[in-house]
Amino acid sequence: MKLFEESKLGTLTLKNRIIRSATFEGMCDAQGFPTEAYKELYTELSRNEIGAIITGFAYIAPDGRAMQPGQAGIDSREKVKFFKEITDQVHNNDCKIIMQIAHTGRQTLSSSTGYSVKGVSNKKSPYFNQTPKVLTTEEIKALAEKFGESSLYAKDSGFDGVQIHAAHGYLIHQFILPSINDRDDIFKIDYELKIGIGFLDLVIDKIRENCGWDFPILIKVSGSDDYKEQFSTKQFINLIKFLDTKKVTGIEISYGTMDHALNIFRCSKIPIDIILKFNQKYKIKNKTLRAVWKYFFYGFASRKVIKYSPAYNLKYSILAKAYTDIPIISVGGFRTGTEINNALNEVDFISLSRPFIVEPDYIKKIKADINYKSKCINCSKCAIMSDTNESLRCYSNFNNSELL
Ligand SMILES: Cc1cc2nc3c(=O)[nH]c(=O)nc-3n(C[C@H](O)[C@H](O)[C@H](O)COP(=O)(O)O)c2cc1C
Repeated sequence: MKLFEESKLGTLTLKNRIIRSATFEGMCDAQGFPTEAYKELYTELSRNEIGAIITGFAYIAPDGRAMQPGQAGIDSREKVKFFKEITDQVHNNDCKIIMQIAHTGRQTLSSSTGYSVKGVSNKKSPYFNQTPKVLTTEEIKALAEKFGESSLYAKDSGFDGVQIHAAHGYLIHQFILPSINDRDDIFKIDYELKIGIGFLDLVIDKIRENCGWDFPILIKVSGSDDYKEQFSTKQFINLIKFLDTKKVTGIEISYGTMDHALNIFRCSKIPIDIILKFNQKYKIKNKTLRAVWKYFFYGFASRKVIKYSPAYNLKYSILAKAYTDIPIISVGGFRTGTEINNALNEVDFISLSRPFIVEPDYIKKIKADINYKSKCINCSKCAIMSDTNESLRCYSNFNNSELL
């Protein structure tokens, strides 16, 4: 069966065609160093027949940290020996591990980073709601250098590659989108392509300058988004064509931005009680007020939320496949071995996030029964709770009644 066949991702040999998609852990200390919990998480995943693991997003500079506590940082050489302990464990278990690297740009809070929020333009993220300080041309070039240096730290830490986070509304995505990028310098929207590729182009070059051409570079992009000026199919195709010219190692196709975060994850039912209790922006302390809000405003607030359906980004992944020979990885909503195997007739790899949170041994289960369905019920409480001090776990399949 294609799904369990050994496969090549650039120079990397994977034992099958399933990848663990980047999933924020919240398991690092205040300076972004990995803790024992981070090590245990990846050691455990690597024992379970996963083709390759992509870590949660790690910041390349402290001003590009996420709002969530416990994020990993790959911003200094000091970190190398600590991450090396993790990659050694993973390699001992015959598994590959790739670090996802990111800068949050406007999608963070100065109260979390201790720095002013930086942006491509002064346009605020509707969700994070802080007017960014516009990056100068020189500052942007310096950030591209940082992506290069961080990739070298990742390489020296033993990671088998990096994944550039160019999806979900973070800094690189902010450069790509004409709805956010209104610059008139070399990082502006390309007149013909109608997308902003200047920064991404430089980031890829800087990674290669630092790590060499052989070092695998994956990239995660969003097929579209939920802004009024929506990213079009034509623009998405132009992005894929551009990546084709850059000869990256693999392209993972996701969706959306953190301004409409539930549309990245997709839920069967919106976890409204958890949102009203724990989300930094929407939480309401008073129980009665919570009930009132739910009764009167919930319908309106949820109108833009797209419901879960299986394999929900496959259509963008198939489209990408038509414009490049670079391996395409589809992420989003795969829950049975049959769904995965069928999708592999169209794309090269399938990646999963939530199923591995509840069942790190999910691959062993679908190997035993291809129709086995993940225990993940797409409640996405794991994603909502990652904004709190809690580290990554499943909130539906165990007794977590204290939360509700
Ligand atoms: C708790 C949680 C944390 C996530 N963290 C990241 C992340 O750090 N980087 C990223 O690109 N995507 C992240 N995602 C998105 C997933 O990689 C994936 O694209 C999405 O969950 C859809 O896949 P799934 O249906 O298999 O969960 C996260 C998702 C969840 C649920």
